[in-house]
Formats: sequence, C-alpha cells, structure tokens
Amino acid sequence: MDIYVIPRSFTVLYIYDNIVLLVLGTKEGVKMQENTKKILFSGVQPSGTLTLGNYIGAIRNFNLLQDEYNCIFCVVDMHAITVRQEPSLLRRRRLELAALYIASGLDPEKNLIYCQSQVSGHAELNWVLCCFTYMGELNRMTQFKDKVAKHPDNINAGLYTYPVLMAADILLFGTDLVPVGSDQKQHLEIARDIATRFNGIYGDVFTIPDGYFGKAGTRVMSLSDPLRKMSKSDTEDSFIAMLDEPDVIRRKMKRAVTDSETEIRFDREQKPGVSNLLEIISALDNVSIEQLEQEFAGKGYGDLKNRAADVVIAALEPIQHEHKKLMADKAYLQTMLDKNAETASKLSYRILNKVYRKIGFR
Ligand code: TYM
Repeated sequence: MDIYVIPRSFTVLYIYDNIVLLVLGTKEGVKMQENTKKILFSGVQPSGTLTLGNYIGAIRNFNLLQDEYNCIFCVVDMHAITVRQEPSLLRRRRLELAALYIASGLDPEKNLIYCQSQVSGHAELNWVLCCFTYMGELNRMTQFKDKVAKHPDNINAGLYTYPVLMAADILLFGTDLVPVGSDQKQHLEIARDIATRFNGIYGDVFTIPDGYFGKAGTRVMSLSDPLRKMSKSDTEDSFIAMLDEPDVIRRKMKRAVTDSETEIRFDREQKPGVSNLLEIISALDNVSIEQLEQEFAGKGYGDLKNRAADVVIAALEPIQHEHKKLMADKAYLQTMLDKNAETASKLSYRILNKVYRKIGFR
C-alpha cells in the first residue's frame, strides 16, 4: 500500500490496487472514507488565449465530471514549448490557465491542479515511453503534419514526439478517463497502443485509458471558415476567446460565416456554419439540436446568431468575472500550484517506480 500526505487539507491518501482511501483531517478528528472513484486526467496548453473550443470541448466537461472522478487537471507547459514561447508571457499564461480552470468551476481543494514542468515524472516517463514507440506510429500523427505546415521554420523533435509526452501524462497516474476534444482522438489512441505494448511485455503496469467526448461541441469550428477547427492560432475573428468582452463576442458572432440559404437546419456537409452555431448553443444550453431546429423554424440567421451570442456570453461572463478576481491574487495561485505539484509528484512515483522496477532500473 502506498501512502501520501497532502499537507494543504490535512488529507492522507492511501492507494491500494485501484482503491483510494482518503483520511480527512477535520476539527472533530479524523474521518476515514473509502473512495473507489476512478481517475480522470486532462490537460490544456498555456500557449495562448483559450478559445470557446477549449471551453466546450474540454474544460466544461471537466467541470461536469469533477464529482464523479478523482480529477487531475494539468497546465501542460512542457507541451507548449514545442512552439516558441516568450518566457514572461508563458509564465503569465500558466497562472492565467490555472485561474481559468478554477474560474470555470474546478474546485482546487478537490481536484489536483498543477503545472506539468513542476512534476519531473512526466519527463521521466516520457523518455521510457519514447523507447516503446515506433517512428512509423509518430509519422501518422495528423497534428504533427499540421504543425509542420504552420511552423516550417521550427520543425523540432519535441513536436514529433509530442504524443509520447501526452501518453506519459496520462499513464503516469493510472488514468481511467481522459476528457478531450475530438482533435485529440489520435493522440489518445497512440497512448492506449503504447500502454498495451508495454503491458504486453512487462505485465499489467498501465491502466488503458478511455476517452471522454461530450455529446455536442467535441469539435467547435472556426467562425470565419466553418470547415476548420476553431483555433487560437487563427485570425482574431475566427475564434471567440474565453476572455472576450460581451460586445466582442456579439460582433464576432454577427460576422460568423453561414451560407446563402435561409433555412436553419443541422447539416454538417451542406451547412457547416449554421450547424456549428446550432452545436454551440446545444452544448452550452443543454438543448437538443432537434429542439433548436423547431425553435428556429421560420426564423432568420440573425436570430440564430443573436441566440448563440446570448448563450456564449451567459456561459463566459461569470467565468471572466471570477478569473479577474483570481488573477488579482497571483501569490495564492502560485502557492496552490506549488502544493499541488508536490502532491502530484508523490502520486507519480507509484507508477514510475513500478515502471523502473519492471525495466530493470531498480
Ligand atoms: P490543447 O491545449 O490544444 O486543447 C485543450 C483541449 O481543448 C480541446 N479543443 C477543442 N475542443 C473542441 N473544439 C475545438 N475547436 C477545440 N480546440 C481545442 C482539445 O481537444 C483539448 O482537449 N495535447 C493536448 C494537451 C494535452 C493533454 C494531455 C490532454 C497534453 N497532455 C493529456 C489530455 C491528456 C492539447 O494540445 O490540447
């Protein structure tokens, strides 16, 4: 049995097989709970403005799942440096992302929120897994090909081996579930393949993780080119940033590309712009696409765009408000990240030690 002490909340965490026992320090004494919750891990890069795509495809789902799982939400800053980053900006964005996690409703007392570079286990397991990954597998990664096209002047080895580091992130904690947008499906698949290969040689070391993709909005599309994914590296008007002011959101929605027809119906092929707006509303307002089609029967694209703007503003405004408050106390954010990184480090040694033993390092 492994034992971990989490100083902040006077919590002791015992991990025995897949059963996690929590000992909670309360004023009245120590209360013991059996916690058989599964483990959830996900990460977001602090490499720029976060978009509505990041929110709907990932962060919102983190929020919905946080009570059901033991959750680990990572600020994956090591992934971010596969593209050149300005150091002071990266430092700030790490804190901003941690603040956005919390502002979006992720409870820092219940979930482990920390920065990847503060937990050396990620880099250590990455190296081991690199030796169990074939170049042929990495050559098939579509995101690598996209990034090469976008950054022809900086095709570095980190970009190439990026999926292995992502596999290490996930496998380091015995993760059961990984909520991500659909653009990460291929990366998740390779993580499962690497884990299965390793287990095939050394026995049951890694848990084989499942992906979690929300019902709607697993791929939020660009507002100016709805055939492409919404991305922070695109032009300003093509994405809504999580921190965009309400009037900016309204303006961007108004300019969203639709089509030359007038009918509001869901059809990804023929009507990608309209379908994207319907999906955004459906995801954020918890209404089915069919209900929305009925609601908008006989109405125009202007109505649809107004409704989309209303729904997005209603979702993001409280987050923005909370984010501002949190960013005013950077010391709190940094202390929280430091403490959680310590806990994550301790947790990571459970799997890492097992891996090292199996391959002959111990
Ligand atoms: P990143 O930082 O590009 O994006 C973070 C999350 O947002 C989702 N996402 C979207 N979902 C729907 N529509 C969109 N337009 C959209 N854009 C982004 C992404 O799918 C992702 O879930 N490699 C990852 C980060 C990572 C990670 C991990 C994730 C590193 N290690 C381990 C899970 C587990 C990435 O680049 O995400």
